[in-house]
Amino acid sequence: MANIVVTGASRGLGLEFVKQLAKFSKSPQVFALCRDPQGAEKLQSFASGCQNVTIIKADMTDFDGYKEIVSNIQQHSNSGGINLLINNAGMMLKDTLTSVKHKSLIDTFELNTVAPLLFTKALLPLLKKADENALPLKVGKSVVLNISAHLGSVEENTNGGYLSYRLSKTALNMVTKSAAMELKASNIFVMALHPGWVKTDMGGESAPLTAEASVNNMLTVLSKADESHRGCLFTNKGRRIPW
Ligand SMILES: NC(=O)c1ccc[n+]([C@@H]2O[C@H](COP(=O)([O-])OP(=O)(O)OC[C@H]3O[C@@H](n4cnc5c(N)ncnc54)[C@H](OP(=O)(O)O)[C@@H]3O)[C@@H](O)[C@H]2O)c1
Repeated sequence: MANIVVTGASRGLGLEFVKQLAKFSKSPQVFALCRDPQGAEKLQSFASGCQNVTIIKADMTDFDGYKEIVSNIQQHSNSGGINLLINNAGMMLKDTLTSVKHKSLIDTFELNTVAPLLFTKALLPLLKKADENALPLKVGKSVVLNISAHLGSVEENTNGGYLSYRLSKTALNMVTKSAAMELKASNIFVMALHPGWVKTDMGGESAPLTAEASVNNMLTVLSKADESHRGCLFTNKGRRIPW
């Protein structure tokens, strides 16, 4: 049986990943990580009807807490190996060159860049232990999917703004590429996806895409991913975004 870990699963895209992956073929075990399980009412309500969803308390910026999170995942997983890690938890501030602050840069960098990198590192022993062919993927036995953003593209930045967010996602793209190169020999596939502009607390009400459609599209891109996707950033429709 496959084991899947999703960070930032209390709401938005993380919650939707949990919902769609829990119903994936052969009902994988889904670990829904969130920093406040008591307050995550929608996740609790979904998980109460799903035996294959386990909620685990995880503040992704509490780096000293990673050992305990990994040990909790290990305790509840059947084979002990993780087939898919989705680094989804993120934050976005609408700062500009004139409003940006030291603290906003550091907080955003810690959650959007440092956490995906160090949590992937913490989970490596379990990613390496993953069962072969547990998920219908062409790219290997285990996958790290970083949820990045089009705003992190240097080449396609035509407006400025969202400064701390852009910087953090550009750096996450480098995390994706470097991890992809380093982990190839361990048969761990790493790529990044841009969900589109999505109606969540972050994306706001004017966004054109629902979380359901975005996640469905992203899982389709992932299921078709091949060697040409390794270490790269793609949209939810499958277009490669230049760095
Ligand atoms: N929505 C869009 O249009 C859009 C576009 C491009 C990229 N993205 C990316 O997609 C991902 C998900 O975004 P979203 O739209 O679903 O955002 P969202 O609705 O604002 O949800 C953010 C999630 O991250 C969690 N989170 C925040 N800080 C955390 C921490 N320290 N530890 C653990 N979890 C934490 C939140 O948990 P709490 O409930 O505890 O706060 C929540 O579950 C992000 O990486 C974002 O950058 C979104």
